[in-house]
Amino acid sequence: MNASINSVAVIGAGTMGAGIALVSAQSGLKVTLVDVKTDQLERAKNYHRKTLDRSVEKQRITRSEADAVIARVTFSTSMGDSSSPECAIEAATEDMDLKKKIFGQMRQVFPAPAVLATNTSSISITEIAGGLGTDAGRVIGMHFFNPVPVMALVEVIRGLATNEDTLARTISLAKALGKTPVQVNDRAGFVSNRVLMPMINEAFFAWMEGVSGPNEIDQIMKLGCNFPMGPLRLADFIGLDVCHDIMMVLYRELGDEKFFPCPLLRQLVKAGRLGDKCGHGVYEFPAK
Ligand SMILES: NC(=O)c1ccc[n+]([C@@H]2O[C@H](COP(=O)([O-])OP(=O)(O)OC[C@H]3O[C@@H](n4cnc5c(N)ncnc54)[C@H](O)[C@@H]3O)[C@@H](O)[C@H]2O)c1
Repeated sequence: MNASINSVAVIGAGTMGAGIALVSAQSGLKVTLVDVKTDQLERAKNYHRKTLDRSVEKQRITRSEADAVIARVTFSTSMGDSSSPECAIEAATEDMDLKKKIFGQMRQVFPAPAVLATNTSSISITEIAGGLGTDAGRVIGMHFFNPVPVMALVEVIRGLATNEDTLARTISLAKALGKTPVQVNDRAGFVSNRVLMPMINEAFFAWMEGVSGPNEIDQIMKLGCNFPMGPLRLADFIGLDVCHDIMMVLYRELGDEKFFPCPLLRQLVKAGRLGDKCGHGVYEFPAK
C-alpha cells in the first residue's frame, strides 16, 4: 500500500512543530496542531499569521491564499481532535520518556496504517518504537531542520522495525512538502548531528584554548570553508543546551570521548547562556 497523505497531526507546537504545521498547510494538507500548553498554540498561530502576512505583503501569495492556509490548521490540546490523519508527526520536547509516553497515545489515537513519525534530533527511533509491539513498523524518524519553511532537507530515519510502506509514505510526504528526503539508518545523531556536533565542539575547544576568538573562528569557517554561518553562531541558533544534550547522547551511545561536550560549552550552559532564545550565548542578542 502507498496511499497519499492528505492530512497530518503535529504533536508539539514549539519551534519545530509550528514550522512543520505551517509548511504542511501551505502544501495543501489539513493539519491538526496539538500541544499541552495553550500559550504555545497561541504562539504558533501568531507565527503562522505573521509569516503569511509577510508573504502577502511581498506579493508571493494572495490574501485569499493566506486565509486558505490558516483555515487548514486546527489548534488543539487533544490528539483526539484530529480527523483521521494518515500521518502524525511528533515534535515535542527532546526527552525519551516523554516521547515514549506520547507514542503510546499516538498508536491508540491514530490506528494503522497511519505513519507515526518523530522529529527527534538524537533519540533512537528503534527505542521509541520498542514498546509498541505490532505498531513498531509504523514508527519512523522524520528529521526536519530549523527554520522548517526555509531548510530543504528531511533526514528520514529507518528504525530496526520500520516497514517498507511507512518508509515509502514518509518519503512521498517529505516530497509533497517540497523537501528533499535523504534516508539514513538509526544510529545516534543520525548523519547530520553526528557530523555537525564534533565540529561545533571543536570550535568551543579552539576558543577555550585561545587559538582565536569566536568572531575569528566563525569568520574563518565562513570565508575559508564557505559555511553560511560559523559553528559558534550556529550553536547559538540551535541552542547551547540542545547542542550539549545531543553531544551527550552521541557520547553515551557511541562511547567515543571526542563527543563529550567541551568544558567551556558546559560552563556556558550552566550559566544559562543558551543562545538566541534567551538573548545571550556565545554572542549577545540584546533584541531578544
Ligand atoms: N530546535 C531545533 O533546531 C530542532 C531541529 C530539529 C529537530 N528538533 C527536535 O524537534 C523536537 C521539538 O523541538 P523544538 O525546538 O520545537 O522544542 P520546543 O521546546 O520549542 O517545543 C516543544 C513543544 O512540545 C510541547 N510538549 C511537551 N509535552 C507535550 C505533550 N505531551 N504533548 C504535546 N506537546 C507537548 C511543549 O509544550 C512545547 O511547545 C525535539 O525532539 C527536538 O530535538 C529541534
